Amino acid sequence: MQIHSSILALRAALEKRGRVVFVPTMGNLHAGHIALMTEARSHGDTVVASVFVNRLQFGPSDDFGRYPRTLQADCDKLSAAGVDLLFAPTEADLYPEPQQYFVELPGIEHQLDGEFRPGHFRGVATVVLKLFNIVQPQAALFGKKDYQQLMVLRNMTHQLALPIAVIGSETVRADDGLALSSRNAYLSPTERSEAPRLQRILQRISAAVQGGEADFSRLERDAVAELDHHGWQTDYVAVRRQDDLQLPGPSGKQALVVLAASRLGSARLIDNVEINPANGR
Ligand code: PAF
Repeated sequence: MQIHSSILALRAALEKRGRVVFVPTMGNLHAGHIALMTEARSHGDTVVASVFVNRLQFGPSDDFGRYPRTLQADCDKLSAAGVDLLFAPTEADLYPEPQQYFVELPGIEHQLDGEFRPGHFRGVATVVLKLFNIVQPQAALFGKKDYQQLMVLRNMTHQLALPIAVIGSETVRADDGLALSSRNAYLSPTERSEAPRLQRILQRISAAVQGGEADFSRLERDAVAELDHHGWQTDYVAVRRQDDLQLPGPSGKQALVVLAASRLGSARLIDNVEINPANGR
């Protein structure tokens, strides 16, 4: 695996590479990331990964400083996964001067995770657009665990007419259902055994909606109450439309998703479950 930190060196290495598939990450790679790399291989000839902890997407009270940085271990895992090139820029490589031009997002930037992490999606969209311009891939993969991020990046790519296929990949979970995340490392052993409750609650909401329950507000309120009772601090539990994450309309035949973000100790966990009409609703 080639490793480059400079934009020029990466661009030179990417000449005449056939179809390039790109998987951007912030490093501290786990099995969920490696599944993305493996899936990427089936979408093109050259798999490019990036590792960059992007300051622009962290708010002042977010965990930018303590976000785990494990580049050597990440290189070993990417190399074992058959990744062809790794782009691992320093901040000086990617932001040689303060970034003053940003992607402007629609209202979704202020909803769900956007409400609780102001500026987060603006920072994500800006760095991903910049990485897309550097790597110029034909396809890019993102995990469905960050559902709102995937929706924002898919719609940005579509509306800005970028010639890139944005592919969403299924969430990889531990045996007890907890979605794999770098932030799981912040959980104490007791919190770790409590953490799968989030997924169980979302599954229960999904089953209720598929069974015909239409009072989404009640389902959301009950979920928050249960999480509160078990020591969580919840930002939101919300049933939304899959394609734009807006409130569901009156029709019963929509593809929905239930999303949640909640804090357990010092870890802020997010998760979601898709609710497809084909599943019987
Ligand atoms: O999902 C992530 O790891 C990050 O938000 C991303 C897409 C790499 C942008 O920094």
